[in-house]
Amino acid sequence: MKKKLLSLALAAMMTLSLAACGGGATSTPAASSTPAASSGAAAATGVKVGVSMPTQSLQRWNQDGSNMEAELKAAGYEVDLQYAGDNDIPTQVNQLENMITGGCKVLVVAAIDGGSLTEVLKTAKDANIPVISYDRLIMNSDAVSYYATFDNYKVGQFQGNYIKDALDLDNQAGPFNIELVTGAPDDNNVNFFFGGAMDVLQPYIDSGKLVVPSGQTSKAQCATPNWSTEESQKRMENLITSNGYGPSATKLDAVLCSNDSTANGVTNALLGAGYTADNMPIVTGQDCDKPSVKNMLAGTQSMSIFKDTRTLASQVVEMVDCILQGKEVPVNDTKTYDNGTGVIPSFLCDPVICTQDNYKELLIDSGYYAEADLA
Ligand code: BGC
Repeated sequence: MKKKLLSLALAAMMTLSLAACGGGATSTPAASSTPAASSGAAAATGVKVGVSMPTQSLQRWNQDGSNMEAELKAAGYEVDLQYAGDNDIPTQVNQLENMITGGCKVLVVAAIDGGSLTEVLKTAKDANIPVISYDRLIMNSDAVSYYATFDNYKVGQFQGNYIKDALDLDNQAGPFNIELVTGAPDDNNVNFFFGGAMDVLQPYIDSGKLVVPSGQTSKAQCATPNWSTEESQKRMENLITSNGYGPSATKLDAVLCSNDSTANGVTNALLGAGYTADNMPIVTGQDCDKPSVKNMLAGTQSMSIFKDTRTLASQVVEMVDCILQGKEVPVNDTKTYDNGTGVIPSFLCDPVICTQDNYKELLIDSGYYAEADLA
């Protein structure tokens, strides 16, 4: 009887937020995703959610972490938010272990290395704790119930198309010189960013209209460990030296950079080689981190991709709600993201191209940044 009353009370508490779940594109929750609901402990109030972020050294993850914390708290959850030092894998594993033993009912995880969490997440699965993969897909773990991210392939396509349009590759004779810089090879997103961009650029490389003078075109050759600005700067400095690039030396028309932290390193190296806003090669980016937006405004980075981390946080909180209520979880992609144990039902948010022309509307008018942040 007592149990029945408790479930009635919980059902009443849940009704308030039911509207968000089960509408639109949905998927049947993965087998491992409904334990809390079936055990009847699904109300938000007092339920602890673990949020594991990879690093505090990049602006975007600080923003992701604080957005997630604020949204979860506003929905009534307790939050255990942890940053794994500066991309330290053992720290992330430790923090996840503590979240599991500390009573978290759902884990939201942005992995440093998509392949290194198999063991710890096995413990989560054994404890019936559903896992949402946040932004980056966790590989080789059947403990992952859902994935929420931005459309990573589209990000790469936007970057490739930006270069194609800026150089007017379909109409100009060329050839144009380009170098390629992508991110951490253990981040599954890189396959989509780099793959999406190369699907646009490769035909022009094949036809000889685009030339990669270094010859470095594979993902491994273009990778940047930990997405580090210092590493991408070092690699660009080496490329400048070995290929003789410079404003009045060998022409460099574009550098594909998969994100802003790598773009910043590349821009530093190009400025160091004497380039200025007037003769800067095209440099792409992603995230609209403040230093990159400032560079865009100064003319030393051409574009970035705006991924509104507020949207992603809301989407993930909705996922958490639906999982805990045993409701269908909204997803809009059930084909693309196979983590080695099967396709993970995913929700892909929309990325948007940001340039000098629309940054005000995207970043300032939307309240993402204050004008003063970019001064
Ligand atoms: C994210 C990017 C970010 C990069 C480096 C990727 O997984 O999707 O937005 O720039 O990691 O932190």
